[in-house]
Amino acid sequence: MEIFDSLESNVRSYIRSFPTVFDRAKGSIICDQNGDEYIDFLAGAGSLNYGHNNRIVSEALISYLQRDGIVHSLDKGTKAKENFLRDFSELILAPRGYDYKIQFTGPTGTNAVEAALKLARLVTGRENVIAFTNGYHGLTMGALATTGNAHYHRGLSGTRNGVTRMPFDGYLGEGVNTADYLEKVLDDSGSGVDLPAAILLETVQGEGGINVARDSWLQQIAAICEKREILLIVDDIQVGNGRTGQFFSFENAGIRPDIVCISKSIGSGLPMSILLLNPEVDQWQPGQHTGTFRGNNLGFVAASAILRAYWSDDMLTQDVLRKGAIIEEHLQDWAVEYPQLDLGVRGRGFVWGIEVPDNGLAGQVSRFSFENNLIIETCGSTGSVVKLLPPLTIEDDVLARGLQTLGNSFARVATM
Ligand SMILES: Cc1ncc(COP(=O)(O)O)c(C=O)c1O
Repeated sequence: MEIFDSLESNVRSYIRSFPTVFDRAKGSIICDQNGDEYIDFLAGAGSLNYGHNNRIVSEALISYLQRDGIVHSLDKGTKAKENFLRDFSELILAPRGYDYKIQFTGPTGTNAVEAALKLARLVTGRENVIAFTNGYHGLTMGALATTGNAHYHRGLSGTRNGVTRMPFDGYLGEGVNTADYLEKVLDDSGSGVDLPAAILLETVQGEGGINVARDSWLQQIAAICEKREILLIVDDIQVGNGRTGQFFSFENAGIRPDIVCISKSIGSGLPMSILLLNPEVDQWQPGQHTGTFRGNNLGFVAASAILRAYWSDDMLTQDVLRKGAIIEEHLQDWAVEYPQLDLGVRGRGFVWGIEVPDNGLAGQVSRFSFENNLIIETCGSTGSVVKLLPPLTIEDDVLARGLQTLGNSFARVATM
């Protein structure tokens, strides 16, 4: 590890939780340079829903490169982009009755959020944006303003500009409907909260601790937006792309956001981000949100291959829901088995969290798991939630082995 310690910036992060040098990976298994194999329950923080080096993607990329397919194209028209637009429209948008326009932003999730915030302000002429407690939307200045966790704001100035924070669903306990509070604040000229350009939310807060919004809460927020001509932006960067079962995480709730942010797994591990825009919201001037890397053709090729392989029927959705139930059952069992840990289980589809309130124990679970060749991270403002985010395509036996290792880690912290 010496070269990383001596040459890489102090900002490095995941390498500290998983201190080894990785070299190869396939599906849900990642291998370090010593040949040790790890089961990957982190999956590139949700970027590898279809696994590492998915064969379908690798073959499409190799054949594209072998015929000298264009790799970089700014935002010029390319065959790869044309194919992606057609596939996304035919396989994702049309079957759901959506007529969204597709914007290619810079390839990071945070740039998609930047673009969404800018566009909402441009369209409405308003500055304020409502974001929620424990929301995570990226770390560039505009997006950072909407991200809750104090860790990312520490020592910086001007990072909260133009954003009002409201309590997410459940933040004030079960008996309090925070959407009622939001509505009251918006309709009260004495509240000190300006009518916002947009309300920005995750339906399941990924980094913020696997906090799941109820469908009824999402529906109420959508109604609040519609009544006051506020744009609803859903950040589906982590829990879209099939993570909750359906392609979009908001499908169950039956809401229709004005803007949807998509990134991470859309390019199957290659950098790529898009915004979906209601046509009337697409009020950009040409080139007004531009960027050199908005034409990652390898991302388009990977995305098309994935869409065709996994989204022409509902088999993946069914499989995700089946395997998600297996995860939930294990987590609930551990909550019963280790009452002294006071574990809290939450999640949906294939994104699950298990809160270990006792300070630092979630981190111990992650460390013990890594010692036993399972990669799993913590989330939440104090890192108290162990987060399960395996590839959606994980084989049943690998999932079972990973859960066995995780269960052993919980057994170990229960006796500490
Ligand atoms: C919901 C959500 N939005 C935005 C981002 C930022 O994406 P990126 O790290 O690619 O900038 C993330 C990253 O974890 C995320 O989970």
